[in-house]
Amino acid sequence: MTDSLPAEVTIIEVGPRDGLQNEKEFVPTDVKKEFIARLKKAGITEMEITSFVSPKWVPQMQDADDIAFSCLTEHTREIILVPNTKGILRLYQTSCKAAAVFVGVSNSFNQKNINKTTEQSMSELVPLIAELKEKGYFVRACISTAFYCPYEGKIDFQDTLKLCRQFAEAGADELSVADTIGMAVPSESYQLFSMLVKEFPNTLLTAHFHDTRKMALANIYAALQAGISRFDTSAGGLGGCPFAPGASGNAATEDVVYMLERMNIQTNIDLNKLLHAIEAVKPYLTRPIESMYYQLHSY
Ligand code: HMG
Ligand code: MG
Repeated sequence: MTDSLPAEVTIIEVGPRDGLQNEKEFVPTDVKKEFIARLKKAGITEMEITSFVSPKWVPQMQDADDIAFSCLTEHTREIILVPNTKGILRLYQTSCKAAAVFVGVSNSFNQKNINKTTEQSMSELVPLIAELKEKGYFVRACISTAFYCPYEGKIDFQDTLKLCRQFAEAGADELSVADTIGMAVPSESYQLFSMLVKEFPNTLLTAHFHDTRKMALANIYAALQAGISRFDTSAGGLGGCPFAPGASGNAATEDVVYMLERMNIQTNIDLNKLLHAIEAVKPYLTRPIESMYYQLHSY
């Protein structure tokens, strides 16, 4: 183990958004609210709570306005995903102060996901990010298909860096760099995150791993070694993008917290309370909870 690993890591919980968006059966709004409330009780301080996307495209997020109005508190950074102008106008109707914009490095993926090329999305979003910053919002930029694309294959890291640069120059506070379909291996995680750490010393850098090939924990460890101390994870390991064939769940929050705490890296998250949060949604899911920590410790 290197001496340079951080003493503390921030977990950005994406379960209520990434975790649930791919669920085929609608999870009742009250259940989502309870899930979010219990995640906060477990110690989560930053969380994607929902997305202002088209309910025709992602029916699971049809209750986003209700979630946004009911789930905002003072001590948590609640984040809402917004793909376009309409999403941001919806955000302005709430008191949520953190937006997550999302764009794919790969054009093909971005077309399938947002119905625009990467360049068209950026032309729309760059002035909107400036506006959000002027109004005092926290802006998170999610960079999808940073490693591999389900349609175009391997992504050139120079293209990933270029998109990150555009977001940073536009004023984004955070770059959340994603292995959308869970194809990256630790050497690639280390390589890309080392480049990002070098180029963006003044921007919050976050790693977002899907666990399709069970590489997420290894990729997180490699990103830690590259200097990353912020990770997007999903309670129960739920998740996946409906427009990225082959994408499975995110790195499970409980497995990541278990690993980090055993390495004496603080997360400030209570594992028992995290399991309690998963129990809130579990009866409504169409798939089993596959995380090892849950399987070994659930009651
Ligand atoms: P479109 O059909 O091109 O939109 O969809 P449009 O601008 O042509 O408008 C068509 C209709 O949609 C209109 O309504 C608009 O008002 C409405 P109508 O007049 O027909 O009644 N509309 C909206 N409604 C609600 N909220 C909006 C909105 N915008 C337009 N914001 C659109 C374009 C972006 C809306 C669509 O493609 C969409 O909703 N995509 C969302 C896809 C999505 O949610 N993907 C998952 C999240 S990203 C992800 O998971 C990756 C990540 O985890 C990182 C990683 O792992 O890679 C972040
Ligand atoms: Mg994702």
